[in-house]
Amino acid sequence: MSYNLLKGKKGIIFGALDEKSIAWKIAIRAYEEGARFTLSNTPIAIRFGEIEKLAKICQAEIIPADATNVNDITHVFTRSMEILGGKVDFILHSIGMSLNVRKHRNYDDLDYDFFQKTIDISALSFHKILQVAKKLDAINNWGSVLALSYIAAQRTLAGYNDMADAKALLESIARSFGYIYGREKQIRINTISQSPTRTTAGSGIKGIDGLLDFTDRMSPLGNATAEECADFSIVLFSDLSRKVTMQNIYHDGGFSSMAMSLKAMTQYNKCLEEEEKL
Ligand SMILES: NC(=O)c1ccc[n+]([C@@H]2O[C@H](COP(=O)([O-])OP(=O)(O)OC[C@H]3O[C@@H](n4cnc5c(N)ncnc54)[C@H](O)[C@@H]3O)[C@@H](O)[C@H]2O)c1
Repeated sequence: MSYNLLKGKKGIIFGALDEKSIAWKIAIRAYEEGARFTLSNTPIAIRFGEIEKLAKICQAEIIPADATNVNDITHVFTRSMEILGGKVDFILHSIGMSLNVRKHRNYDDLDYDFFQKTIDISALSFHKILQVAKKLDAINNWGSVLALSYIAAQRTLAGYNDMADAKALLESIARSFGYIYGREKQIRINTISQSPTRTTAGSGIKGIDGLLDFTDRMSPLGNATAEECADFSIVLFSDLSRKVTMQNIYHDGGFSSMAMSLKAMTQYNKCLEEEEKL
């Protein structure tokens, strides 16, 4: 259902790879809500992913860019403003990658070149996008910028590895830049801390199946899906959330406030009983 919440708004969406991507679902919802936007991802992701299909559905142009490269980001903004005919109103940062996770390097045996890449891709890229946008004056007053985070920024989760550090930095950048951009241009910057979600990046998390089951049992409302994350993102891009800024907002069915649920306890006790039988 469409409420025309983004009618007349223009944006840039970074990070849609395939139909499972959270950015993909957000792009679809933004289009349904009346927004016009450009899409960006790395040349390799464009070649091997399905973003061209999304571009057709949303009548959007794709602008290739490595989000760690300031020149590439500058091109995304200048080209987007040409295509869209002016400044943008919203930006989505939906970018994350850790070579340490991919190559199964444990947190106490990190490769530091990989670690720097994790930080650059998953967190510094957010600062770079914001800094380029500000220097080009590319966002309209009262615009909204969002990045996607995960609860591992606050609580330790086995196997989330150096991405936890990247997410902590990402959330801090949202606050630090949110202060400056808010003060000067009334532009708000927030992060959504999303439930674990089965995407290409999500599937890299160690033990994702067990994690999804656990968080679902722990959350009174169950895990939040990518589609639900898209709905919530639309609200944060819309004029209905004009005074929300510098926040990390949990979109996780209540998981972040739980310590133990009846459903999780029941399952845990079953496992203990099984163990006793052995
Ligand atoms: N899936 C989950 O469980 C989950 C939970 C909370 C937060 N998030 C976050 O959501 C965001 C989107 O991830 P997703 O789950 O939709 O997975 P995804 O794999 O679909 O998206 C990750 C995107 O990052 C892009 N990317 C990687 N390196 C890049 C670079 N150098 N420049 C530009 N783009 C680059 C990839 O091409 C891909 O499109 C990430 O920040 C992720 O950490 C995911």
